[in-house]
Amino acid sequence: MTQTQKILVTGATGTVGRQVVAELLARGHAVRALTRDAARATLPAGVEVVQGDLTAPDSMIPALEGVTGLHLITFGGAYFAPLETGPRILEPARAAGVRRVTVLHGGGPSLLEDAVRAADGVDWTVLMPVEFMANALEWADGIVASDEVREPFVSRLSAMVHEGDIGAVAAVALTEEGHAGQEYVITGPELLTVGDKVATIAAARGRDISLVELTEEQAVAQWRAAGHPEDVIGFLLEAYGNTPEVGRTVLDTVEKVTGHRARTFAKWSAEHADAFTATAPAVMA
Ligand SMILES: NC(=O)c1ccc[n+]([C@@H]2O[C@H](COP(=O)([O-])OP(=O)(O)OC[C@H]3O[C@@H](n4cnc5c(N)ncnc54)[C@H](OP(=O)(O)O)[C@@H]3O)[C@@H](O)[C@H]2O)c1
Repeated sequence: MTQTQKILVTGATGTVGRQVVAELLARGHAVRALTRDAARATLPAGVEVVQGDLTAPDSMIPALEGVTGLHLITFGGAYFAPLETGPRILEPARAAGVRRVTVLHGGGPSLLEDAVRAADGVDWTVLMPVEFMANALEWADGIVASDEVREPFVSRLSAMVHEGDIGAVAAVALTEEGHAGQEYVITGPELLTVGDKVATIAAARGRDISLVELTEEQAVAQWRAAGHPEDVIGFLLEAYGNTPEVGRTVLDTVEKVTGHRARTFAKWSAEHADAFTATAPAVMA
């Protein structure tokens, strides 16, 4: 058992951050969670919730007081706009006594990530997850409404990762020796096509789902209708139509770092089956 440490988690109300919080708590550590709106944040009992904004580094200073570890996201607003405040967050962090930092890689260049890598006296670990299993939640509305998933490139392969495993790798890297200077590509335990994923969700919720393959043009129209900006659509086309090898290669990072096998999509689907199941309308008395 490692000694109890106090860790500041940024992005704590988000998909990955929630899991970093949960995995740190499960290991007996004290967690301070950053949010821009403490009144709206719903976090587990025992978490110290603090308000701050990564785009306004001065607001981070009180949040950094007394923590030895820091989990960072690299974005600060809508559509993952990259943060430009890197050094102005790392300097107060070092001054406050932060000794270990994990950073959730955003897939592109990042001034914040550069500042983490360059920070003297800080043990950093870059977390590079592949596609999150949670992305499948984007299908929930279509599945609930019409038992249907509409997707392009249905035979693409993905080594998608359970967010809990990203959280577990972060929690270990933030609190234990041996992970300084590492760039961890984090994957799930298997390669899945879109059809495999849909079948797995169908099994978990106990009801069939049909998979309708869209052409590229139909997919672009669907993403535009959903309000995605053109650069995001370009990214999706590239990521789904021409998935890089790293996104379709299974690695044993989770097991090596945490000592546990990476969680399967079947487990994730069982945990989220309710999101894919229509709830019966309330009966009026
Ligand atoms: N989806 C994938 O398949 C995938 C794969 C690999 C990597 N990634 C990367 O993962 C990251 C997304 O992570 P996620 O899905 O966990 O994010 P998310 O669920 O969208 O969460 C966003 C979090 O960021 C916080 N936040 C946003 N702007 C902030 C600011 N200015 N100051 C402080 N906090 C701020 C929000 O906190 P409050 O609203 O509470 O303030 C919230 O907790 C991106 O960098 C993406 O590139 C995604």
